Amino acid sequence: MSWDSLRLARLSVASKLLITLFLLIVGPGYLFGTANIYFKNKDADGDPEMTLDDLKATFYGLEVKADDTRIVNPSPMLTQVLPGGDMREYLEEDGPATEGLIAWLKAEAKEEDFDTPGLGAEGNWSAKQAIATYCVVCHNSDGGEGEEYPFAETEDAEPDYDLVFVSAEPPVDIQEGEVRTIKPKSERRLVHITHAHILAIPVFTLLVGALFMMTGFGPTVKFLLGPLPMLAVLADIGSWWLARYSEPFIYVIAAAGAVFGLAYALQILGILCSMWCGRREDPAPSGD
Ligand code: HEC
Repeated sequence: MSWDSLRLARLSVASKLLITLFLLIVGPGYLFGTANIYFKNKDADGDPEMTLDDLKATFYGLEVKADDTRIVNPSPMLTQVLPGGDMREYLEEDGPATEGLIAWLKAEAKEEDFDTPGLGAEGNWSAKQAIATYCVVCHNSDGGEGEEYPFAETEDAEPDYDLVFVSAEPPVDIQEGEVRTIKPKSERRLVHITHAHILAIPVFTLLVGALFMMTGFGPTVKFLLGPLPMLAVLADIGSWWLARYSEPFIYVIAAAGAVFGLAYALQILGILCSMWCGRREDPAPSGD
């Protein structure tokens, strides 16, 4: 079957509106997705600008030299709970629990302050209380989801300072010029992100691609542009994993993102043009 028999230009106005509205949602949806990735990962290398180093720090690991422009390795827990950290979502944004925990972590996570409320500002929770309330559900050694990094023995137990300190300890004595290594995202985290993306993205890529195949563009254009976004998705997600073992896949991730954005935008524009301004009749048979 040729997609041509389903020419978009021949659809009823209602169908055209349906498709146009769909594209108006998934087109900007991609932009939001990209912006989200940007804000989540731009600090991965300790420097607030988004560069290839952020991809490197996220997927491969990165060595950075300590100097005064980078916040080099705060404690793992502080990294996790600051804006952009993976654990931030489990805390109430900017609440007294969050502020109290961060204040304690920034003040070097001292044992005598572990159970002290009001650090940073009047009314802030103690770190112990914040961790007990928001973190121990998962971070306990009794089968919690985050049991690799336990903060208490069981889900109902009090947080234990010695356990918490494993993640809360700030790095000691970084000399200027000293090299530190930022580890890539853990495999579990990567499984989680892969799972979150691998169902949704290919489906809307397929829908947009199928609509593009119904446009009036010639077979060469369709051959070149049609499968391209899907290829980029495969290269992107595949490279998240391959980059753990081989650094050059970082460049594939960056390139795949750019190729996807461009090809996807062209497809959407092509669909809209072809649907609203395209020819409705079949071309006259050749030789006529
Ligand atoms: C819904 C479950 C859940 C909650 C709630 C949760 N975590 Fe986690 N956390 C995890 C899992 C799972 C991992 C392991 C993920 C990984 O391997 O990247 C983890 C990893 C961590 C790590 C280790 C990161 C590293 O690579 O060193 C720290 C630190 C951490 N969490 C802190 C916290 C803090 C602080 C809170 C409370 C504000 C919290 N977590 C709440 C599930 C949770």
